[in-house]
Amino acid sequence: MNTSVTMTTRQAEHCRQQERKLYAPDWLTCWSFLCVCVCVCVCVCVQDLQNMRAGKVCVMTDRNLAGLPPMRSVLESLVRSGIEHKVYDNVRVEPTDTSFKEAIAFAKKESFDVFVAVGGGSVIDTCKAANLYACHPDADFLDFVNAPIGRGKPITGALKPLIAVPTTAGTGSETTGVAIFDFEHLKAKTGIASRAIKPTLGVVDPLHTLHMPERVAANSGFDVLCHALESYTALPYNMRSPCPPNPINRPAYQGSNPISDVWSRHALNVVAKYMKRYAVRDPEDKEARSSMHLASVFAGIGFGNAGVHLCHGMSYPIAGNVKTHKAKGYNVDHPVVPHGLSVVLTSPAVFNFTAPMCPERHLEAAQILGADVSRAKREDAGPLLADTLRRFLYDLEVEDGLEAVGYSKEDVPALVKGTIPQERVTKLSPREHTEEDLSHLFEASMKLY
Ligand SMILES: NC(=O)c1ccc[n+]([C@@H]2O[C@H](COP(=O)([O-])OP(=O)(O)OC[C@H]3O[C@@H](n4cnc5c(N)ncnc54)[C@H](O)[C@@H]3O)[C@@H](O)[C@H]2O)c1
Ligand SMILES: [Fe+2]
Repeated sequence: MNTSVTMTTRQAEHCRQQERKLYAPDWLTCWSFLCVCVCVCVCVCVQDLQNMRAGKVCVMTDRNLAGLPPMRSVLESLVRSGIEHKVYDNVRVEPTDTSFKEAIAFAKKESFDVFVAVGGGSVIDTCKAANLYACHPDADFLDFVNAPIGRGKPITGALKPLIAVPTTAGTGSETTGVAIFDFEHLKAKTGIASRAIKPTLGVVDPLHTLHMPERVAANSGFDVLCHALESYTALPYNMRSPCPPNPINRPAYQGSNPISDVWSRHALNVVAKYMKRYAVRDPEDKEARSSMHLASVFAGIGFGNAGVHLCHGMSYPIAGNVKTHKAKGYNVDHPVVPHGLSVVLTSPAVFNFTAPMCPERHLEAAQILGADVSRAKREDAGPLLADTLRRFLYDLEVEDGLEAVGYSKEDVPALVKGTIPQERVTKLSPREHTEEDLSHLFEASMKLY
């Protein structure tokens, strides 16, 4: 256990306080979550910048969000307060190594002393990388990228403060020490994982999620669902190996533990209660939007400590090998299988596979998601959770499996090949697996219904 787990003891009390508030949500409350020091306060981003004595601020966003209210309100307050800033609005939705490098080059050109990311996971992750490499100008790009793809070097230098303003209710990136990108020549995602890149502050204001198109809301909500489910069923922290003696070498993802369990289970409860309302039934349902925005934070703290496993590990080549799939509701000019969708499509097969290792947790998850488990036996856990997830996805009009996003059985070897290097997450699967197991999981995910 390390400091980040110690911190979450205090976070657990915060979680209980939030739970009490959750059922009487105040729509106008702007939650602020200080990821490092852990405090809750009503927050105005500009005052935080002033408190940080910001001289020159780098504001990052994507082209779509550049014209939308979350970005407009941040810019208006910066201008009103006379804080010097420059905007980088060229973040790629589902970033790549090339798009990361472009953002890094922008950050290196100026001497920014604070970074502000306004957007979904794509923007926040890009901003984390820009901050990291601007503060380590001599580092090679692969130095901090996860091994075995990169060198996985520990980050020892100080970074500039980064304020994350999430506009989706999904990735929880405002709470995590992870920045994900698509490594183009591998056709699979990988990332940088270190506590050093955790944002200093996350401004979690549900008003920012109001303009999310229905499918962006649905897909980012599936990311929350899978963060919660995977971290709750991840290999326990005391069964993970290796256990490096020096804390700086400990992985950001430590395996499920009693503290991350609190966050993950709570997030799952919120998803079960609000996801359908929030994503499809009524985009103006402010209680549901507010609750899901908090759920993404809760799940972020859960998986940011415990980690995720097979759905995420397998999602990286699903996203990276995309051929022509155009994601409904996404205002982008390139083919994309959005992250939350790429993760959730394998979830019925994955949890059917992992259930024998911790059937109680899988049964509990099925129950939280609405299944009747009163007469279920331990061996029913996998099929029951898989069926519950299929029903959940069907109700939310999710594409019918990998085939519906452009894959066929011929693609399975490439998808398996892209999963193999994702050890950072796949080794947290509670069940050991072979390449043949991965092939079966991809094949079983070709069609869902
Ligand atoms: N760092 C982490 O811990 C972590 C965790 C999970 C996923 N990720 C990464 O995050 C990325 C996905 O992020 P995401 O799901 O948040 O979506 P996103 O950032 O890719 O955005 C998706 C689309 O929604 C639009 N959008 C976002 N907010 C909007 C709003 N309020 N109103 C209107 N449109 C809006 C964007 O402009 C974009 O077109 C992936 O690259 C994924 O790998 C990172
Ligand atoms: Fe995710």
